[in-house]
Amino acid sequence: TKPVTIHTLRTLKEQGDKFAVIALYDAVMSAIAERNGIEIVLVGDSLGMTVQGHNSTLPVTMEHMLYHVANVARGARHALVLADLPFMSYATPDDALHNCARIMQAGAHMVKLEGGAWLEDTVRQLSERGIPVCAHLGLTPQSVNKFGGFRVQGRNDSEASAILQAAITLAEAGADVLLLECVPASLAGEITRRVKVPVIGIGAGRETDAQVLVINDILGLTERAPKFSKNFLQQGGNIAAAIAQYAADVKSGVFPSDENIFL
Ligand code: KIV
Ligand code: NA
Repeated sequence: TKPVTIHTLRTLKEQGDKFAVIALYDAVMSAIAERNGIEIVLVGDSLGMTVQGHNSTLPVTMEHMLYHVANVARGARHALVLADLPFMSYATPDDALHNCARIMQAGAHMVKLEGGAWLEDTVRQLSERGIPVCAHLGLTPQSVNKFGGFRVQGRNDSEASAILQAAITLAEAGADVLLLECVPASLAGEITRRVKVPVIGIGAGRETDAQVLVINDILGLTERAPKFSKNFLQQGGNIAAAIAQYAADVKSGVFPSDENIFL
């Protein structure tokens, strides 16, 4: 199998073929995921909640991320390894350059940063220096305290146009991928059509180029699972089959269904 690169993702978008992403945290899951139809393994700072038991992602440090990135990278032979930069590790472009170097050296192929148009300079500098970037927009969980909770973003016109503008700005600054979390399906659809780069969605409807879910949600391990997630273990019967079902349902457009979507 050929390694997944940013070219692979671009080609899939151009062909109108969807791809599947899972946030996961260790080598075993990484290996199972790529053998069962997953193009990108995301080492998400959601590990603060799913692995460490915190109620937000804010306590996650660079050291935590480096440890999990190295583990996930060892399990991935052809999947693209995407790694989150944790809270406050990219507050300035210099911090971002320094911490991206560390996370790339630990085994990541692309880094993900949360934020809007203010990230423009950072994205440009990373891009110029050879670091592929995924810009995470909409519900950015590192800002949960500023949002006053985990809530859908972009529901009114001014919020929606700010997210759309940020998406366009960051793609122009050199972001290779965008990720939209918990935004209305229509807004995600518009952004996906407006930018050339692939758009990954979670709680962002059916029209994005890809979907991402957290492994704990796919396997039904989350106590109060979010509306946008789905337990695939019930159908699959075992972990590999659950992941394969998720990948197949993303690619065929069966997932997400109406019950997983915000309007
Ligand atoms: O940390 C994470 O798992 C994420 C995804 C939910 C997009 O950022
Ligand atoms: Na994250």
